Amino acid sequence: MEAIVATELTKKYGKLVAVDNLSLSVAEGEVVGLLGPNGAGKTTTIRLLASLIRPTSGKALVCGHDISRNPERVRESVSLVTDKIILYERLTALENLVFFAQLGGLSLKEAISKSNELLEDVEMTRWKNKQVRFLSSGMKQRINVIRGLLNQPRLLFLDEPTIGLDPRSTSKMRELIARLKNDGQTVILTTHLTHDAETLCDRIVLMHAGQIVASGTLEELRILVNPSKVTGAKTSLEEIYMSLMPE
Ligand SMILES: Nc1ncnc2c1ncn2[C@@H]1O[C@H](COP(=O)(O)OP(=O)(O)O)[C@@H](O)[C@H]1O
Ligand SMILES: [Mg+2]
Repeated sequence: MEAIVATELTKKYGKLVAVDNLSLSVAEGEVVGLLGPNGAGKTTTIRLLASLIRPTSGKALVCGHDISRNPERVRESVSLVTDKIILYERLTALENLVFFAQLGGLSLKEAISKSNELLEDVEMTRWKNKQVRFLSSGMKQRINVIRGLLNQPRLLFLDEPTIGLDPRSTSKMRELIARLKNDGQTVILTTHLTHDAETLCDRIVLMHAGQIVASGTLEELRILVNPSKVTGAKTSLEEIYMSLMPE
C-alpha cells in the first residue's frame, strides 16, 4: 500500500502560497527526503500530511486515511518529530519515555522494554537515569526522536533531524535513520543538507517556493541533470541541487 498519496495539495497564508499544488506518492518502506532552502514549504508539507493543519485545497491519503475527513486516524498512524523538544526536564530520560509510551497505550511492562530498546539504539543507555535537564541538547534531541518511535508509527516524519546537533549526536541520528530504513520503517525527512538527503534517502524530492522542482532516486536525478553522462565521476547531489534549484 502507498503510505502517502497527495494530490494537488495547496496551503495559502493570505497571499503567500506555502505549498503550491503539490502531488506526491510514497510507498510503504520508503525513506523520502524533502530537500530545499528555508521557506521552500517543507515543514508546511509535513504538517499538512500529519493533519496538524488543513489544506486550502487538494487532498491526501496518509496510511489510507483522508487528512481532511479522518484527521484523527491519520494522527494515530503517524509520528512527527521536530526540533522542538517535548520532554519533562525533571523526569529522567527513561521516565519520560515510559510516560509517553503509556500515554500511547502501552502497558507499563511494554513501555519499559520498548524504551530501553530505543535508548540502546541511540546509545543513551548510560544516561537513562539522568534528569533530562542535565543532558546536552544533542542528547535531548536523541531522546526526543526515539519518543516519536515508542508507539511504532506506520509513518515517521522527521523535520530537520540533524539541525543544530553536535557531531556525535548527528552521527547517532544518521545511524538511527539508517537502521529504521533497514527495518522497513517509512520515513519522510526534511532537510536542507544535501549530504543527509544523499546518504539516508531512497528518493529525494527537491522543493522550492512550495513546488516540487524534481524528484527521484539519486541515479534518476543524475540522469535528469546529465542525460548523456553514462560513466565516469558520479554527479553529487550538491551539484544536482545547484543545477536544478532556482536561486
Ligand atoms: N503559520 C504560518 N503563517 C504564515 N506564513 C507561514 C506559516 N507557516 C509557514 N509560513 C510561510 O510559508 C513558507 C514556507 O514555510 P515552511 O514550510 O516553514 O518552509 P521550510 O520548512 O521549507 O523552511 C514560508 O514563506 C513561511 O514564512
Ligand atoms: Mg522547516
